Amino acid sequence: MYGLINIAIKDLVTEGYGADAWERIQARAGLQGTEFILMDQYEDSVTYDLVGAASEELGITPAQVLEAFGAYWTKYTAVKGYGPLLDSAGKSFPEFLQNLDLMHTRVGTMFPDFVPPSFECHNITDNSLDLHYTSERDGLDHLVIGLLHGLAERFKLTLEIDQRAAKGEGSDHSIFHVAWH
Ligand code: HEM
Repeated sequence: MYGLINIAIKDLVTEGYGADAWERIQARAGLQGTEFILMDQYEDSVTYDLVGAASEELGITPAQVLEAFGAYWTKYTAVKGYGPLLDSAGKSFPEFLQNLDLMHTRVGTMFPDFVPPSFECHNITDNSLDLHYTSERDGLDHLVIGLLHGLAERFKLTLEIDQRAAKGEGSDHSIFHVAWH
């Protein structure tokens, strides 16, 4: 994934736990001293190793690391120059979810070699929908859950998420039933 992702993990850890914690996490992941470059591409394993090391170092589960990162990402991108992109994705939570692929297509003009996820909305009602998440990657369902909570905060909503299918467990993609009020 692009360096931007790993830099955001570094910033999340440093803000919450300090520079020493980040150094210990980097060392634990075998990445001691690495300065990530925003526009360079890194193996996905680098990101997964950082999540694993953060989980061990901070005493929380990898799922909790991914959820925290997802929620952080929605605020981080807003202040790191991607605010207009987020604004263009929608004026309401359900509109935003329906425009996620369009938004990532726009992101692709800046990060030409990136491999984006894909999202589809089904069974849309006034306060719920089923979000279908398709990815070439595995193990990022909790990232999506964190992202959804971060987006809900952006729209000042309270969210309930019920995962109805998981990629690799009898399905080729994951499905989240999302209800808001
Ligand atoms: C303007 C804001 C955003 C930017 C700049 C952005 C950019 C990116 C980038 C660069 C990647 C890494 C892909 C790669 O390097 O191959 C990525 C991955 C991802 N993005 Fe976004 N993104 C944004 C907002 C969102 C939002 C709001 C969601 C909410 C669902 C989202 C969901 C994801 C997921 C789940 C992945 C992991 C990749 C995968 O599932 O395969 N992104 N995004």
